[in-house]
Amino acid sequence: MKTEVSRRGFIKTAGAATGVMLATGFSPFSYAQNEKVRVASIGTGGQGSFHLRDGLSRANNIKIIAVCDVYKPHLEGGYKNAGGGDVKKYMDYREMIEKEQLDAVVISTPLATHYQITMDCLDAGLYCFTEKTMCFTIEQCRDVVKKAHEKGLFVQVGHQRRYNPVYNHALKLAREEGVLGRITHIDCQWHRNNDWRRPVDKNYVLSPEESRWIKDLERHLNWRLYHETSGGLMTELGTHAFDVVNWFLGARPTRVHGYGSLDYWRDGRDVFDHVNVVFEYRVTPECPGYREIEPRTTQQKEYGKYNEPYNVGVTYSSICTNMNRGASECIQGDEGTFVLAEMMTPRYYREPNSRVKWAESGARGAAEANATIISEGKTLTISNKAQTEYEPILVDTDKSVDQIQFEHFARDIQKGGPKNGAVPRANEMVGLESAICALAAEKAMWERSEVIIDPKWYEFDFETPSTTLYGPIEV
Ligand SMILES: NC(=O)c1ccc[n+]([C@@H]2O[C@H](COP(=O)([O-])OP(=O)(O)OC[C@H]3O[C@@H](n4cnc5c(N)ncnc54)[C@H](O)[C@@H]3O)[C@@H](O)[C@H]2O)c1
Repeated sequence: MKTEVSRRGFIKTAGAATGVMLATGFSPFSYAQNEKVRVASIGTGGQGSFHLRDGLSRANNIKIIAVCDVYKPHLEGGYKNAGGGDVKKYMDYREMIEKEQLDAVVISTPLATHYQITMDCLDAGLYCFTEKTMCFTIEQCRDVVKKAHEKGLFVQVGHQRRYNPVYNHALKLAREEGVLGRITHIDCQWHRNNDWRRPVDKNYVLSPEESRWIKDLERHLNWRLYHETSGGLMTELGTHAFDVVNWFLGARPTRVHGYGSLDYWRDGRDVFDHVNVVFEYRVTPECPGYREIEPRTTQQKEYGKYNEPYNVGVTYSSICTNMNRGASECIQGDEGTFVLAEMMTPRYYREPNSRVKWAESGARGAAEANATIISEGKTLTISNKAQTEYEPILVDTDKSVDQIQFEHFARDIQKGGPKNGAVPRANEMVGLESAICALAAEKAMWERSEVIIDPKWYEFDFETPSTTLYGPIEV
C-alpha cells in the first residue's frame, strides 16, 4: 500500500489546455461540432431557476430553447433566468417537446412527476437530466433505466457531487493514494433549522390554464411536506449523502433500519421532521472500494481473517431544528477521515497512528496560507493557523459545480451518448442506487422494521452504465 502522498497531491489546477479545447469548440467527435446542445427546462421553480441561472445559461455548449412550468409566476421567473429574449414559454411539456427541436430536457419538477415526464421525454428521443430523487418508487426507477437502454439514450440525475472537483479529487486520493486506509464507517447528516415550507400567496387566483394542472396551490408549492407526493427528508436531502456513500464505498447496502417522527413542525404536514437511519454495506474484493489491511496485532495476524469481506456501517440523520452540523459526509477509515461538504470547506484529518506520512510535519497548512477556495460561487479563505488539525482540500476553478455538471451533460450528448461510450458519471444507475437507499430507508421508518435490500433491484438483463466513474474532472 502506498503510504506517502505529496502535498501537491491535494491541489488540482484547471489546465489551460482544457479551456482552449472548449473555447474553440474542438471536439474529436463528429456530432454537433461548434453546435450547442438544444435544451428545454421543465419545472422552473426553485431548482429549475437555479439551473437556468447558474448552470445552463453559463454552460458554453448549451442553448436554452424553451422553459415550461404550470405555475405562471415560476414560468415567468424561469424565462427571466433563462435570459428572456426568444426563449419560448410553455405550460404543457408534451406540447413543448412536440413543437420544439430539442436535444435534451432538464426536469426539475416535484418528485412524483419525474417518472411520467422522464418516460415521455425518453420516448420522444430526448436525453434527460432529471433531478434527484430519480423517481418515487424503485419500480419506476427501474423502468427509467430500461427505457433509457431501449432508446440508446441516458438520464443524468441531479447528483452534482459527482461533478464536484473536490469530491472527485478526494475519492481519487482515497482510492489511489490510500489516505483513508480502509473505510470502516461513514456518518452523514443534513441538519437545518427552519420549517422547510414555501410561502403561498393566499390571494393568488389560479387562471383557468393553471387550474388544469393545479388543484390546490398550497399542496402544489409545498409538495415535499406531504407523504403522498414526497419521501420527505429521505428523498429530498438524504439521497445526496447516500450517493456519496455508494460512490466512495463502491458497494451496495444489504439492510437498513430507520427511525423517523414528526414532533416540532406540526403544522399540517405529514412527513417526518427528524430522521435517523443506519445502513449496513457489504464490501467484497469485487467492490471498487474494497481495501486490504495489514494485520495490526499478532492475534489478528494469527487469526488470519483480516481481509475477508467486511461490513461498513453508515448512519444518516436529518433534522429541522438545529443547523449546527450543517450538511456533510464524514468518511472514516483506519488511516484518516474526509469531511466533505458542498457548502463548507472540505477537510482531511489524518489519524494519529496513520502511515500516511505527508501530514506529519508541524507546518501543515502553511503552503496554502490565505489560499482562496472558490466553491459553488462562494469564496472561502483558509486562515494560516500553525499546527492546523486538518489539511484543506484545494481545487482551483471559478466555475460553479452546476455549470460543470451541465457542460458535461451537453458534452456527453455531443459525443453521441451511450452508443459512443459517452455516459454521465451521474447516470440513471447512479440515480437508481441512491433512490433504493432513500426509498428503503423511508419504508423502514414508516414500517418501524428492518428492510432487507433485494440484490434483484439492481439487476437487468443488459449491461448497465458504470456507477463508479471518478477522477479529475475537466472544467
Ligand atoms: N440537486 C439538488 O441539490 C436539488 C436542490 C433542490 C431541489 N432539487 C430537486 O429539484 C426538484 C424540484 O425541486 P424545487 O425545489 O425546485 O421544487 P419547486 O416546487 O420549487 O419547483 C417545482 C416546479 O415544477 C413545476 N411543475 C409541477 N408539475 C409540473 C409539470 N407537470 N410540468 C411543468 N412544471 C411542473 C411547479 O409548478 C414548480 O414551479 C425536486 O426533485 C428536488 O428534489 C434538487
